[in-house]
Amino acid sequence: MAAPRATACLSLLPLLFVAASAAGTFEEIQPTTYKQLEAVKGQWSLSVAANGVARNCSKEAVAAPCNQPPLNADAGDKLTVTAALKGDALRTAGDLDPKRVLLKACYAKPSTADRPWRKPNDVIDKDRSCPFIIKATNFSGGSVTADWPIPKNMTKAAWYAQVMVQCQNGTQLSFCQYDNTKNASYWSTSIINSTPTPMIIATAVCSAIAPIFLAVFFARDVWARKQQ
Ligand SMILES: *[C@@H]1O[C@H](CO)[C@@H](O)[C@H](O)[C@H]1NC(C)=O
Ligand SMILES: *[C@@H]1O[C@H](CO)[C@@H](O)[C@H](O)[C@H]1NC(C)=O
Ligand SMILES: *[C@@H]1O[C@H](CO)[C@@H](O)[C@H](O)[C@H]1NC(C)=O
Ligand SMILES: *[C@@H]1O[C@H](CO)[C@@H](O)[C@H](O)[C@H]1NC(C)=O
Repeated sequence: MAAPRATACLSLLPLLFVAASAAGTFEEIQPTTYKQLEAVKGQWSLSVAANGVARNCSKEAVAAPCNQPPLNADAGDKLTVTAALKGDALRTAGDLDPKRVLLKACYAKPSTADRPWRKPNDVIDKDRSCPFIIKATNFSGGSVTADWPIPKNMTKAAWYAQVMVQCQNGTQLSFCQYDNTKNASYWSTSIINSTPTPMIIATAVCSAIAPIFLAVFFARDVWARKQQ
């Protein structure tokens, strides 16, 4: 009796993951690729600090010494990410007018291995390797900085910071510039207590439908006994 119930619950998991990741993507009108922005890359300096202490890690392994200690939501750890424009003016794809700046946290390459739900994609909207928006703000030149408490849903991994710029393109915004100085902006996280949202949903749904299965099996049991 437990086996069919568990199987039914498990068969729902992929669906829930799809639903959860669809809800997590944000809308962008023009599909832009990183490749299209390659020519205007490299105009920012990115730096990270952990609990106020500068990190300068160029290693993408979770356990790399420069990534220690790993940051943790339960410990109340805080990351500071700064993107400073190197030149005076930002060059953008199509010479469009920069409007918004986004700071993102992206999975380091080894942390995406064998995990399709973290898969990088050249099409920016389909890129699953940068799931956290640390800050989104109006572009005003100069530098953007964010103090960011490590969120509870940040899984154990190594990460790097990425800055993205959106420009006015007609009546819409398009991605028009990005940068990720991966060699110096790694940090790692460890998670003790957190449960990813899809798991919470899956668990809730499974617990909600379990009584129905119980009732159905109970009814069948009673009915079967009556037939004897
Ligand atoms: C993490 O949790 C926050 C707050 O609940 C939510 O807004 C965000 O979308 C989640 N991010 C990911 C990548 O799960
Ligand atoms: C950001 O820019 C938009 C559009 O230009 C404007 O309406 C909004 O007030 C600005 N927000 C801030 C916080 O400056
Ligand atoms: C701006 O929008 C047009 C179509 O509306 C699109 O072809 C073009 O690629 C966009 N520019 C950028 C830099 O994304
Ligand atoms: C990091 O990369 C940038 C540009 O890609 C380069 O200028 C810089 O020297 C590199 N720093 C280190 C420490 O490798």
